[in-house]
Amino acid sequence: MRKGEILAFATETVYGLGADASNDEAVLAIYERKKRPQFNPLIVHCADFEMAQNLVIFPPLAQKLAQKFWPGPLTLILKQRQDNNISKIVSAGLETLAVRVPAHNLARKLIKTLNRPIAAPSANISGSLSPTRAEHVLEAFNNEIYVLEGGQCEAGLESTIIAVEDNKLFQLRAGALPREIIEKEIGQELIAAGKREKITAPGMLKSHYAPRAKLVLNVTEPKEEKGAAYLAFGAEPEFGGEILNLSPSGNVKEAARNLFSHLHKLDKGRAKIIYVAPIPNIGLGEAINDRLRRAAS
Ligand code: TXA
Ligand code: MG
Repeated sequence: MRKGEILAFATETVYGLGADASNDEAVLAIYERKKRPQFNPLIVHCADFEMAQNLVIFPPLAQKLAQKFWPGPLTLILKQRQDNNISKIVSAGLETLAVRVPAHNLARKLIKTLNRPIAAPSANISGSLSPTRAEHVLEAFNNEIYVLEGGQCEAGLESTIIAVEDNKLFQLRAGALPREIIEKEIGQELIAAGKREKITAPGMLKSHYAPRAKLVLNVTEPKEEKGAAYLAFGAEPEFGGEILNLSPSGNVKEAARNLFSHLHKLDKGRAKIIYVAPIPNIGLGEAINDRLRRAAS
């Protein structure tokens, strides 16, 4: 990475495709490898709060969030410091920068060892399913990538993204840190991204995280037809086709961890159409349903 190579690595959310955030060419290589549109900025991963503080300005509210939830699956969108040495390609020219301190030990060790912040989007081809295991990354890039193996991602969903502006908190992406937990800790409501005057997260495309198979949501009685598979949650209905369960006990945390992994599995098999059980929209369910809607769109 010091020489400008890119490296995929595990975080607690999903695998990231990392490069030295100060190296223009290395960052550009990420966009190329992922086939990512260049207007869609990247998250900068820091080893600790101090490293992040060198890059962006923390108003008191943002500092409180960082103290409560870092290291962890929370990304903050904050105003950049002028002299932060981060490649302009990382932020796609925006005045703000997305920063987070990952909770995965190996990820933080990597950043510490490099001693520089690491820019990293999820390690998938743009628009396709996110990787929660090293093998998903290898498959996506035809084995032509180095991966720092860190096991199955604990959360299995991307970080929650919050923009802090004028003492207000905007949730730009639901993610592995549930809205309710943030609101309770901070004592302030998160405002939906749509209510923000400025542009929302540029990368929040309607269709994203898409498998090849067609996805049909909120199905309790899946049709038994050729090529049909069922992604269950909780008790399973009668179904003769291939069935995978996100969480037999109906636990949303377990379902989040399994979501992309199960979708990868079904998509690699014979499934042409995947019926998905309804998931309650509370806690992590909000982020799970967000990913499912985009995957189906
Ligand atoms: O959990 C995660 O966040 C993972 C791991 C690897 O850290 N990363 C991840 O990155 O999900 P990516 O690139 O797939 O998603 C980053 C999102 C995009 O939707 C992007 O538009 C948004 O963050 N973003 C980045 N910088 C931004 C900024 N300055 N303002 C608004 N949105 C921003
Ligand atoms: Mg992504």
